[in-house]
Amino acid sequence: MQVSKWQGQCPECRAWNTLIETAVMPISRRFDNLSGAHSEVRALNSIETGEQPRIVTGMKEFDHVLGGGFVSSEVVLLGGDPGIGKSTLLLQVVAALGAGRQTLYITGEESAEQIALRAQRLGLINAPVTLLAEVRLETILAALEKNKPEIVVIDSIQTMYTETLTSAPGSVSQVRECAARFTRFAKERNIVLMLIGHVTKEGAIAGPRVLEHIVDAVLYFEGDMHSNHRLIRAVKNRFGAANELGVFGMTESGLKGVNNPSALFLSRHAQPVPGTAVMVTLEGSRPLLVEIQALVDPVVGGLPPRRLAVGVDAQRLALLLALLHRHGNVQVGGSDVFVNVVGGMKIDEPAADLAILLSLYSSFINKALDRQLVVFGEVGLAGEIRPVQRGQERIREAAKLGFKKIVIPKLNKPKQALDNMEIITVDRIEDALAVAQGR
Ligand code: TYD
Ligand code: MG
Repeated sequence: MQVSKWQGQCPECRAWNTLIETAVMPISRRFDNLSGAHSEVRALNSIETGEQPRIVTGMKEFDHVLGGGFVSSEVVLLGGDPGIGKSTLLLQVVAALGAGRQTLYITGEESAEQIALRAQRLGLINAPVTLLAEVRLETILAALEKNKPEIVVIDSIQTMYTETLTSAPGSVSQVRECAARFTRFAKERNIVLMLIGHVTKEGAIAGPRVLEHIVDAVLYFEGDMHSNHRLIRAVKNRFGAANELGVFGMTESGLKGVNNPSALFLSRHAQPVPGTAVMVTLEGSRPLLVEIQALVDPVVGGLPPRRLAVGVDAQRLALLLALLHRHGNVQVGGSDVFVNVVGGMKIDEPAADLAILLSLYSSFINKALDRQLVVFGEVGLAGEIRPVQRGQERIREAAKLGFKKIVIPKLNKPKQALDNMEIITVDRIEDALAVAQGR
């Protein structure tokens, strides 16, 4: 459906406010592919592949998330809540790349003075970075044409606008059009382009989500703003593994990679406490130890029982509670149930089932699990414990961090025994609950 002027209602389906303004490009350009390459039909095996040379920032955690650094003319979208550290991170990145490469930081959100102040705080005031405070796409493209930078940051895509559209900056059509034009330009001129996008509170509207298909890689800041840790996850990466996670600390002088992220999500209690279980989760290519906490507490005063899951799926929690009831005779109908993942992590792999289950059970029977114990495993609806991928790696990571006992699905049992690690295999929920009871 196309109309040529603003209209609140779609004349075809009668829905309100669903029409979106778009720029009408000349036919010849409209169907250009975004990679800017000329197309010809070729045999698959005639295409040269080879390792893509990487542009390494030297910030280890950031390079890790990218899959080993940028590749040439890569377009990366960095999303996250306002104030979480996007501008800080990318200023550090251009500063790190500035030696030997021409970099340009384009700010539409803050003035050049504000960026310079931030650079001063970061101790980067003498870094070889050039700045441009501008929001008009056409002006920026002309400046890029003139200065020929190799690395460009746009902070943020929501502040940019093009004259070809009449809608306001930050609207879906402006955001999408600007991102597409910048992307095409970057691909044609071999520029590494980083776009900053705010995640808007109302959800996906005009947020980074509408751009995910245009760019090569999408990174999101995750985690708790109130802690000093910042997690960056690659939710899409054409040049590396998706789901890769980088762990940073926010310090006085900006974001610093965390050297041993595996131990970060453990709370290290002085005494064993009921209701906690440590699991090994996989974040991209990297195993991480994470503590899951549960509280099962009788409801007082006849209120309806509450169910709260932070960092794990609420539906999954409901399912595990039903399984506990059926196979462990655990009645939680009259109890509040809370589950939380330490450190603001989100875990969505089924390998967390067993840890959630044991933390719930441990809270229910008010008996702490062994402090040396780690678990992983998926729980099936019939009460069976199912194997998870890359069990060996998980066991090794737990051993590396000094844990002495691990509860795993029977089918994940390693062929060889490990020194200093007692491996307990379980086949059914009942087996796992017996471990929790210390039997
Ligand atoms: P910022 O990069 O401006 O966030 P965004 O671009 O995502 O909106 O980061 C803002 C926060 O980071 C701010 O609350 C202050 C904090 N901060 C530090 O703790 N240390 C620093 O060195 C800097 C520059 C910022
Ligand atoms: Mg910012």
